[in-house]
Amino acid sequence: MTPLFDLELIVISGKGGVGRTTVAAALARAAADAGKRVLLAASTTTDRLGRMFGRAEPVGTEVVTLAPGIDAVNMTSESALHEYGLLILRSELVTRALFENRAVRGFLGAVPGLDAYAILGKAWWHTTEQASGRRRYDLVILDGPASGHATLMLRIPGAILAAMPKGPLARDAHALQDLLHDPTRAALLIVTLAEELPARESVELATAARETLGLTLGPLVVNALPSDAPTTPPLGALLDRLPTLEVAGSDPALWATLRLAASAGAHRRLADTIVARLRRELGLPIVALPRLPTADLGPTAIAELATYFIPQRAP
Ligand SMILES: Nc1ncnc2c1ncn2[C@@H]1O[C@H](COP(=O)(O)OP(=O)(O)OP(=O)(O)O)[C@@H](O)[C@H]1O
Ligand SMILES: [Mg+2]
Repeated sequence: MTPLFDLELIVISGKGGVGRTTVAAALARAAADAGKRVLLAASTTTDRLGRMFGRAEPVGTEVVTLAPGIDAVNMTSESALHEYGLLILRSELVTRALFENRAVRGFLGAVPGLDAYAILGKAWWHTTEQASGRRRYDLVILDGPASGHATLMLRIPGAILAAMPKGPLARDAHALQDLLHDPTRAALLIVTLAEELPARESVELATAARETLGLTLGPLVVNALPSDAPTTPPLGALLDRLPTLEVAGSDPALWATLRLAASAGAHRRLADTIVARLRRELGLPIVALPRLPTADLGPTAIAELATYFIPQRAP
């Protein structure tokens, strides 16, 4: 498989809340450290992205530089549709007239997946963007929608080509489809937790990517893996003997602590079986990121997670 950082577009998806934005940020950090010019294209309403790079203001619909080599933009479907309209119609006035027309808006809003397609289209457009006679970005990372919506989004270029094989929409849909189907240029990166529901969604998404979308899959990213400290010696061995231990019997606080550690150990073992099953079912390389002790992730945490995407570190 083409090394991740040599791709032009990485689409990130997975169940809601599993850490797609975090992984997008860590990947951007790692790619920029490897010398790539990266655009993080987000489509989120919350602003965690800015904070992850130590920026107080939210990332808006204008491209901003977050760190050397890392630009970011937050694409709302409205802003993406508007800009996409501009690209096709080549006139601010006509675009405004069209997209600010209530009937047209109502129509566009009623086409399932079109909002997400505008975002995908804009991310694609950024892969073609030129600056100083070369591509402005080596790599565009799309922090995409959650699984179900992502499948819908990724189906639209094909649907457009089937419905109207000619014209300006088809031209872009072709270019986008060529990019998405080229394993040397684009990949879908699935993020999951080592838990039942996200794992099941990952398998469904991977199956759709392989069987109907024709997309290449990057490594499976298992995010926020609980620590293995309670399962490895010497703590692991001690906790295995917990039911037969007498010494702690007199101290309720010590017992409670040991039981907590034992339950964290059981949690990790369950996570390991889920990861092993995913590895078997998907046959993909796995990048496992640790659960960090804080949920408020800043630049240091992102830099730490980024190290797991450096090829030698991947298990
Ligand atoms: N490896 C990790 N260790 C600790 N906390 C994490 C880790 N990864 C993500 N988090 C936290 O989990 C929460 C969800 O992460 P994130 O926003 O990246 O998920 P998401 O999939 O983008 O969510 P959404 O569906 O809302 O877009 C955040 O509070 C984030 O800081
Ligand atoms: Mg997110």
